[in-house]
Amino acid sequence: MSNTQIQIFDTTLRDGEQVPGCKLNTTQKIIIAKQLDLLGVDIIEAGFPVSSPGDFKSVEEISKIVENATVCGLTRSVKNDIKVAAEALKYAKKPRIHTGIGTSDSHIIHKFKSNKDAIIERAVRAVSYAKSFVEDVEFYAEDAGRTDNEYLARVCEAVIKAGATVLNIPDTTGYCLPQEYGAKIKYLKENVKGIDKAIISCHCHNDLGLATANSIEGIVNGARQIECTINGIGERAGNTALEEVVMILKQHPYLNLDTNINTTMLYGISQLVSESMGIYTQPNKAIVGANAFAHSSGIHQDGVIKNRETYEIIDPKDVGVTESAIVLTARSGRAALAYRAKNVGYELTKLELDIVYKDFLDFADTKKEVLDDDIHQIIEISKIYK
Ligand code: KIV
Ligand code: ZN
Repeated sequence: MSNTQIQIFDTTLRDGEQVPGCKLNTTQKIIIAKQLDLLGVDIIEAGFPVSSPGDFKSVEEISKIVENATVCGLTRSVKNDIKVAAEALKYAKKPRIHTGIGTSDSHIIHKFKSNKDAIIERAVRAVSYAKSFVEDVEFYAEDAGRTDNEYLARVCEAVIKAGATVLNIPDTTGYCLPQEYGAKIKYLKENVKGIDKAIISCHCHNDLGLATANSIEGIVNGARQIECTINGIGERAGNTALEEVVMILKQHPYLNLDTNINTTMLYGISQLVSESMGIYTQPNKAIVGANAFAHSSGIHQDGVIKNRETYEIIDPKDVGVTESAIVLTARSGRAALAYRAKNVGYELTKLELDIVYKDFLDFADTKKEVLDDDIHQIIEISKIYK
């Protein structure tokens, strides 16, 4: 892997599926996993095999059908979790076990009623045991976002020695500021012995709306994997959105960081995940929302009709959206009306446009959006009274 290549670790089927009410059956998960593989993600986290027989089966079936991506199963630092995950992954061409434990004071004291040294011992035992089944072992330090950097570095050093190939540094509660998360990654790069033997991974939650910014700051500071979900779905406010980090890297080539993602599949897979899970995507969602390439105010419409790049930084075709939408509302101008009228077969002269535009505004004030049918009506009625 070149140093400019960012691994995309998709956890739609694991962290994403933790959204209340979004349970997918094995067939739905297989369909999504196939699309993720075609999309070009590097790792598919297929589930948490010990959590239920259904999840075990999904991980097993996904392991059988995925052609290119690594297939990963989540575990706690619990021997049986790891054994069950290894069993579920046995058909995978490239299996990965993702094991870990909470490392913040809050987790150590309240969740585990333990102490720092004992947690490191448990982490090392889990990684060594996972290593007895697969070569590729990722370790997560849960709540790393609120773990002090010095202790986090000790944990990382110990698990690398035990054979961890990837170090996941989750901002589990979405608390960090971008510069804080970036500094954490930098600190680990500079202070963990053996760090070059492992890939650092960003796993950011969106509780303060910073998941994408934190992930980008993480890779700018040396991480080389991003954990993310389609549409940013996930626990509470969700995870880093795959489509956002991928398009940020594509639109900012000077960062000199790249992914394997076929971006023209992004819109289609967003729709698939949203429909399968029954989670509606907010219209203003970056990249894949219904309004991401829609223009409704007169000033913007005029600019986009003259040159798309005036108000768009992404060519919609690059993410699988056929074209930008010129939406007609009472805020639209003559240029937009002429453009949409032409699309439905009317080539209006300047004088005709002036007349129709007045009628259009009266009509538009009574409706949220003027549709193609309405354009026909407005123009035909204007002709009758001319
Ligand atoms: O957010 C988190 O800490 C996680 C881990 C289990 C990887 O999802
Ligand atoms: Zn998570």
